[in-house]
Amino acid sequence: MVENFKVTPWEVTGDIDYDLLMKKFGTTPIDDALLKRLSKYGEVHPMLRRGIFYTHRDLNMLLDEYDKGNKFFLYTGRGPSGSTHLGHLMPWIFNKWIQDTFKVPMLFQMTDDEKFLFKDLTLKETRSLAYENALDFVALGFDPDTTKIILDTECIKELYPISLKVAKKVTFSTAKAVFGFDNSTNIGSIFFTTIQAAPAFLPTEMEGRQVPCLIPCGIDQDPHFRVARDVAPGLNYPKPTMLYCKMCPGLNGGDKMSSSDPMATIYTTDTAKDVKKKVGKAFTGGCTTVEEQRAKGGNPEVCAVFKYNYYLFEKDDNKINDMIVKCKAGEILCGECKMALTNKINVFLEEHQSKREAAKEIVDSMTFNGFKW
Ligand code: TRP
Repeated sequence: MVENFKVTPWEVTGDIDYDLLMKKFGTTPIDDALLKRLSKYGEVHPMLRRGIFYTHRDLNMLLDEYDKGNKFFLYTGRGPSGSTHLGHLMPWIFNKWIQDTFKVPMLFQMTDDEKFLFKDLTLKETRSLAYENALDFVALGFDPDTTKIILDTECIKELYPISLKVAKKVTFSTAKAVFGFDNSTNIGSIFFTTIQAAPAFLPTEMEGRQVPCLIPCGIDQDPHFRVARDVAPGLNYPKPTMLYCKMCPGLNGGDKMSSSDPMATIYTTDTAKDVKKKVGKAFTGGCTTVEEQRAKGGNPEVCAVFKYNYYLFEKDDNKINDMIVKCKAGEILCGECKMALTNKINVFLEEHQSKREAAKEIVDSMTFNGFKW
């Protein structure tokens, strides 16, 4: 079968077939039984109900341990290669919900080293981007007492011994097969996956007992964690549990919001005017004339404005269904939907931006080993 998409930790392109991707990676779907189980801990997050977080590895096992009183910790991260946009916030918002629901500590890794190695950026640039991105993370309200931020170049002393143990178990041929590296790849990139694995095992090292780890993140990160899970038993580390989401779509109708198209990307620092302009230009798949739209209706399935409601901005399932029905019947027009979404995004951003300012006061207190930004 020919795939017209590509999903790797460094490149996401094409029309992503998420079911096929799940089969290819060998992850397990989140089925009704698992959703029902999750509902015992609190109201199931819309991103789970709606199949945005849609696949996992070993989630049942993690919950079995949790039910026995063996708490897990959360781990996710960010590669600081540019300004934070809504696509980045999506999995972080979900992590915050997990933290609140299960009352668990969290590690947030910022891979300034990774983006130095893989992109045309200096270490100074990736570090200052990491600071800017960290403000957005902190602004989401993670518990400052139990949430710690790892900046790789600052926390390498804590990560390095674990990285070495992982590195000794991963051959060049595995790295080539998993990540598609070749002889022209710089050797830092080849080693990097061991650095991304390290936080998953850090609490186990620190506490001297197997501490379960849950990693909710985009499915594009699975290659790293396949390798980490493969080597874990041999190092007496628990295999991290994975919970994967789909990519956050772009406003242009594409499968991933990406800084390569700034007009289709809403940054956390955008002004209300920027948002209005960008949403105004969003792809809707609607008809070209009002008459035609009234007669034929629209197609929410391809509409970026609908997707934004579905992924992030409309939590009420009834309202989502209402939007679908009215759109298909030609009762609401794209202009109205765009205006409503613009307002929702601007309400969210206004609050986020003030929390982001306040985050400057606490971001120092949340660093893993007390490093100063
Ligand atoms: N490599 C990730 C990125 O490019 C950053 C990252 C580091 C990460 N550790 C993680 C993402 C753990 C998810 C989970 O964004």
